[in-house]
Amino acid sequence: MFNNIVITGASSGLGAALARSFAAPGVVLGLLGRNSERLTEVSGFCKQMGAATKTAFLDIRHREQLNDWLVSFDDKYPIDLVIANAGIIAAVPKNQPDQPMSSVLDQFEINFTGVIATVNPALLRMRGRKMGTVAIISSMAAFRGIPLFPAYSASKAALKSYYEALRPTCAADNIDICIVCPSYIDTPMNNKNNSSSLLRMDADKAARIIKSGVEKKKPLLAFPYTHLLGIRLLSLLPVKLGDWILYKTMGS
Ligand SMILES: NC(=O)c1ccc[n+]([C@@H]2O[C@H](COP(=O)([O-])OP(=O)(O)OC[C@H]3O[C@@H](n4cnc5c(N)ncnc54)[C@H](OP(=O)(O)O)[C@@H]3O)[C@@H](O)[C@H]2O)c1
Repeated sequence: MFNNIVITGASSGLGAALARSFAAPGVVLGLLGRNSERLTEVSGFCKQMGAATKTAFLDIRHREQLNDWLVSFDDKYPIDLVIANAGIIAAVPKNQPDQPMSSVLDQFEINFTGVIATVNPALLRMRGRKMGTVAIISSMAAFRGIPLFPAYSASKAALKSYYEALRPTCAADNIDICIVCPSYIDTPMNNKNNSSSLLRMDADKAARIIKSGVEKKKPLLAFPYTHLLGIRLLSLLPVKLGDWILYKTMGS
């Protein structure tokens, strides 16, 4: 269904799984990441599946470099799907009440402004063509701040809100925006936090859910449904009880 697809954060975890799931003959994948070794490996797999790949080893905080690469990719392969997936997470350090400002800024620069810097150049071109699809990888943490991860939760909530606000104007230009809010996925990111492995979904399964949802033009994909229900039910509880349950769920 999509021919020319850009995926950021394709060198690891969910992004790599998404690249593998979209790889097929006739598809051109623009794969971005910082780690050249891992990104080359993902690209090699996608080629074996019959896709053509173009890789870019760059940091999405380098906005000019990112813009130039996206524009030149789009010149040759008009982008019909961009998946803004790259992201980082950092916990509040032990024995500290809050995150260091440098960590807050890093998470916002990658998870929020980095996503906008990725999507913006593609959106401009899509608007001209009056067609295209944008998938934003937010998080279930966008619905409720997660204890120990304040900047991560806030950056993902900001992302969800930003693209909800853009969705109607984009729809008027025949551009679909799909905001993806997964719960825990089994990826290297989760080795850095202390989420229970019982809560985690396999990355390939998550990629299949996202691919199917994007193809069906779903405006919001929050999964698994049981976790979404849990978050919604939490909001009905007294606030302090909700805080306590989430804090315990995070294994602390
Ligand atoms: N895992 C979960 O439970 C979970 C749940 C909900 C949402 N998400 C979201 O899913 C997305 C993918 O996460 P993941 O779990 O797959 O984590 P991951 O395995 O750590 O992968 C993160 C990816 O983002 C890339 N990245 C990070 N900072 C970057 C930067 N400044 N410039 C360019 N690329 C950068 C990394 O590239 P390099 O490795 O090459 O540096 C890597 O490919 C993130 O947005 C995350 O917030 C994850």
